[in-house]
Amino acid sequence: MVVSILTHPFMAAAACVAVALALLATTSSAQLDPHFYDKACPAALPTIKRLVEEAVAAEPRMGASLLRLHFHDCFVNGCDGSILLDDTPFFTGETMAAPNANSVRGFDVIDRIKGAVNAACRGNVVSCADVVAIAARDSVVALGGPSYDVPLGRRDARTASQAAANSSIPAPTFGIDRLASNFASHGLSLQDLVALSGAHTLGFSRCTNFRDRLYNETATLDGSLAASLRAACPRAAGTGDDSLAPLDPTPARFDAAYFASLLRNRGVLHSDQQLFAGGPGVADALVRLYAADTDAFRRDFADAMVRMGSLSPLTGSNGEIRYNCRKVNYS
Ligand code: HEM
Ligand SMILES: *[C@@H]1O[C@H](CO)[C@@H](O)[C@H](O)[C@H]1NC(C)=O
Ligand SMILES: *[C@@H]1O[C@H](CO)[C@@H](O)[C@H](O)[C@H]1NC(C)=O
Repeated sequence: MVVSILTHPFMAAAACVAVALALLATTSSAQLDPHFYDKACPAALPTIKRLVEEAVAAEPRMGASLLRLHFHDCFVNGCDGSILLDDTPFFTGETMAAPNANSVRGFDVIDRIKGAVNAACRGNVVSCADVVAIAARDSVVALGGPSYDVPLGRRDARTASQAAANSSIPAPTFGIDRLASNFASHGLSLQDLVALSGAHTLGFSRCTNFRDRLYNETATLDGSLAASLRAACPRAAGTGDDSLAPLDPTPARFDAAYFASLLRNRGVLHSDQQLFAGGPGVADALVRLYAADTDAFRRDFADAMVRMGSLSPLTGSNGEIRYNCRKVNYS
């Protein structure tokens, strides 16, 4: 069947273009390699895994926070460790950008891991961007999620951009069209959007990020969830802003409960519920699929994590391998 289609000259040409586009799309990730540290530091990956397991055992939410750290790194000029750079009197990094301030966490755990990896490797061998990518995968696994090989060899940025962090990370106020176009701007598909939003099977949100949904979106918000969330998140801005609500009923277990919740109008964030409107849309169909078929979710999530983790890496002689993840080597 495929062969007979390709004998048609136009179809053959179209197939060539498709192959060329596919090659083009993979060139950035083709430079990364899961075996990058096999020779240079075989102890690196086991060391990271052990420290992530310790951190998650001490506080399960840390697994969620490390996963989100990787997302917020990758969506701002690529997975280059830029989110880890501290502000200095002469430099404004990304930590205080709107989507990150008082929200992104895990920096101390990354410091601890990087110190241990430097010791295990007897030197500065593993980049901070790779530490974050591996820690995200190990966090997912520690909380019961799928494993996958992490392509490695990212190098660390010597710069960061608060403006880009403000504008490149999607906001919880976004509707489905803006969510989809934001992901498309990063080369990620609607399927990637739905699968990766499944990361909200883990962790928590602050009241400030779901207050408007709680009081203004009653038509698409389950009444009993609304009642329980309102107790901790009063209507008036400034009251209980930092109260936490789990993003799904099992915030320390990587499962399909997030998608099951969306089917029942129990998405916590506006952006979560935007993936499911109860209609015939493509996102709706994916939410139904993942709610019913956990294996499909796990597979698509792992594949999408590899794509997200391969966004615009610095490789070769670009960037550097930071010794201390919080600052560039020579400032
Ligand atoms: C699709 C667009 C997305 C939006 C609008 C969004 C928005 C948010 C918001 C507002 C929070 C709560 C933050 C706070 O209150 O401090 C949150 C938490 C979280 N997000 Fe997302 N997110 C998105 C996609 C993702 C993706 C792609 C991932 C990872 C692959 C992710 C992982 C997480 C995790 C794990 C948490 C919980 C963090 C913790 O408990 O520390 N999110 N997200
Ligand atoms: C980023 O957003 C924060 C919070 O809204 C704002 O204070 C800051 O000035 C913004 N930074 C840039 C560079 O646009
Ligand atoms: C809800 O909508 C009203 C009217 O648009 C707005 O004034 C208010 O700030 C919104 N948020 C909350 C929490 O009521």
